[in-house]
Amino acid sequence: MSDFIGTKLTMNLGERSYDIILKNGALENLYQFARLDRKVAVVTDSGVPAEYAQRVADQCRESTIITVPQGEASKSFKILETVLRQMLEFNMGRGDLVVAVGGGVVGDLAGFAAASYLRGIRFIQVPTTLLAAVDSSVGGKTAIDLPAGKNLAGAFCQPSLVLCDTDTLNSLPLDIFRDGCAEVIKYGVLYDPKLFAHLEEKGLAFDREAVITRCVELKRDVVMEDEFDTGARMKLNLGHTVGHGVEAKSHFAISHGKAVAIGMAIVSRASACADTPRIVALLEQFGLPTRTDYSADDLFTYTLSDKKRSGGTVNLIIPCAIGDCVIVPTKVESLKSFIQAGL
Ligand code: GLY
Repeated sequence: MSDFIGTKLTMNLGERSYDIILKNGALENLYQFARLDRKVAVVTDSGVPAEYAQRVADQCRESTIITVPQGEASKSFKILETVLRQMLEFNMGRGDLVVAVGGGVVGDLAGFAAASYLRGIRFIQVPTTLLAAVDSSVGGKTAIDLPAGKNLAGAFCQPSLVLCDTDTLNSLPLDIFRDGCAEVIKYGVLYDPKLFAHLEEKGLAFDREAVITRCVELKRDVVMEDEFDTGARMKLNLGHTVGHGVEAKSHFAISHGKAVAIGMAIVSRASACADTPRIVALLEQFGLPTRTDYSADDLFTYTLSDKKRSGGTVNLIIPCAIGDCVIVPTKVESLKSFIQAGL
């Protein structure tokens, strides 16, 4: 375990403001940060150590633990309905609370269940993967997938607290930790040459407290600037538009982090960014893939079903240099040749 001590950041969004707490051992202390004297549905998945949800439940006056199967397939109408039914059977009212304990799938699903149950009840994100800690738990995007693509039904709904027990990140299997590293590298490419250089120097032994805090700060700042994803926040999709195509084409056998790594490498090569060799080398240093066997045709088809499409254009995020990326509206007709150039 590292000696991560703790950080509190505040997401300032007027009446939707909330704290983001990063602290070792925080799971035991949720009661210090949240009112748990009401019905609490703790939503988790079968891949998350069961004791995490139990530790949350033990602090609540009245709780139920809802465990969904691990994997992207749980972001479906069927599983959403199961969660909502269990919340109803537990007689939850408008003043009650959902706590999402897990990675991105659990956070997105439980968040959308909370956003839609009785037209919306409060929820807390307790991310237990690096990917969820630095990205998906912060910023209020909740969603399920439709057969045509990822995150096609959902809501912007901010949590009332994000509490990350950094001990949970320290005990992640390396492969899952690597997935989160793809998002960490993304922040370096987007905004922060010093963060990028630190990752190059230290590799997987990067300073966890400083790096995780920096990524969450960057995410917090961009969400405060553009909560509803109509401008600056779109840059967080670096590598995601093509990456979602890779994920979907693989039927989610390729994880989100690895697909984003491939997506970042493809857009970097296709845009002929001078820093492409450093970006690709850093992804490889972290054991992340940077190539795919899928054809430009396949990726084009699956990429088009991604929601980042607007009419006849797709907003691609293009690196100009490390720390400097731009949003480039790209005509659908040019997308296939762009992807081809990056393969
Ligand atoms: N994960 C990208 C965003 O929150 O906008």
